[in-house]
Amino acid sequence: VYMQLVDNYQRRFQYLRLSITELCNFQCQYCLPSGYQPNKEHKFLSLNEINHVVATFTDLGVRKIRLTGGEPTLRRDFIDILSLISSYPSVKELAITTNGSRLLKNIHHWHQAGLNAINISIDSFTPHLFKLITGQDKLKELLQCVDKSLEVGIKKVKINTVLMKNINDNLNDYLLWIKDIPVELRFIELMETGESNDIFNRYHLSGSFIETQLIAQGWELQPKKPLSGPAKIYVHSDYQGKIGLIMPYSKDFCKSCNRLRVSSIGKLHYCLFGDAAVDLRDLLGSSEQKQQLKARILASLMIKPEKHLLHDHRVGITPNLSYIGG
Ligand code: GTP
Ligand code: 5AD
Ligand code: SF4
Repeated sequence: VYMQLVDNYQRRFQYLRLSITELCNFQCQYCLPSGYQPNKEHKFLSLNEINHVVATFTDLGVRKIRLTGGEPTLRRDFIDILSLISSYPSVKELAITTNGSRLLKNIHHWHQAGLNAINISIDSFTPHLFKLITGQDKLKELLQCVDKSLEVGIKKVKINTVLMKNINDNLNDYLLWIKDIPVELRFIELMETGESNDIFNRYHLSGSFIETQLIAQGWELQPKKPLSGPAKIYVHSDYQGKIGLIMPYSKDFCKSCNRLRVSSIGKLHYCLFGDAAVDLRDLLGSSEQKQQLKARILASLMIKPEKHLLHDHRVGITPNLSYIGG
């Protein structure tokens, strides 16, 4: 019998989100409202340390790895990281979450290095709103990114849109676009972080605002697939694309939590929000430490909280999601 990652609430973890940098070249309002201040003390995991993380977690049953950040593609050794992880046969899905800024030139190489799923953040399909939210004038380029990703053969392409009340909440703007493109467009409820309190109070909108409209227009809920994330997916026979809703403020959101997170400084976080974390870094130096590392991970799993603290406006140690990778 081999050891599996299961917590006190019978949740099983085959999905690891690995942050590889805190740096980002965008400054989205909801993510980095106070401007960008990377912690200069932080040294991000080396390729070697990443190797030990992946070797250990795959031994423990992880089958899907998503690289996050910050912006993961800013790492100079990004391709090497992809090649390294995809050399593990047990990694069935190797994904990234990206702002798309380095995608057009590189996606072909990333795909060849083993990347097989990609989530691109596009917060609006209206150029001036896109610029308002992200501070970048890049909507056109990002739409090309979507096409290009599909073209080089990435089968799983998803779009992330953080819902903001009275800014980007007009469903029709999105429906037109999703009609003929086989991607999953996900609306994410704006979450409160240590730095985003003002923005949260002003712009938070429940995903049910979109959900009600979808149902009224004949969209149907699709059953959940194994390894898939927290999104509720809606489909419609007139549309090639799908629409997802990520609603962390809804009841029981955390019951189906299927992921663990390792930060770019080697801390294992049990929840996106909350203080529960265990430092792994002292055990990432050599493969001889693997048994010890496994033991620490397994023993600490019991601190994984039953649910996040967002309803109590408690964001724990999460100043913004560029720290822990969403
Ligand atoms: P995939 O199914 O692999 O696409 O997972 P995903 O949808 O979680 O991936 P992605 O990185 O695109 O996540 C989108 C956003 O959803 C994240 O940036 C977070 O904002 C939010 N999110 C993802 N997982 C969680 C979670 O466990 N808890 C909460 N509260 N939010 C999450
Ligand atoms: N609330 C919701 N989603 C957020 N993201 C970052 N900050 C927040 C927040 N406060 C998500 C966006 C982006 C991903 C990388 O992180 O979906 O696509
Ligand atoms: Fe899981 Fe925490 Fe996310 Fe809830 S907030 S789904 S407990 S990681």
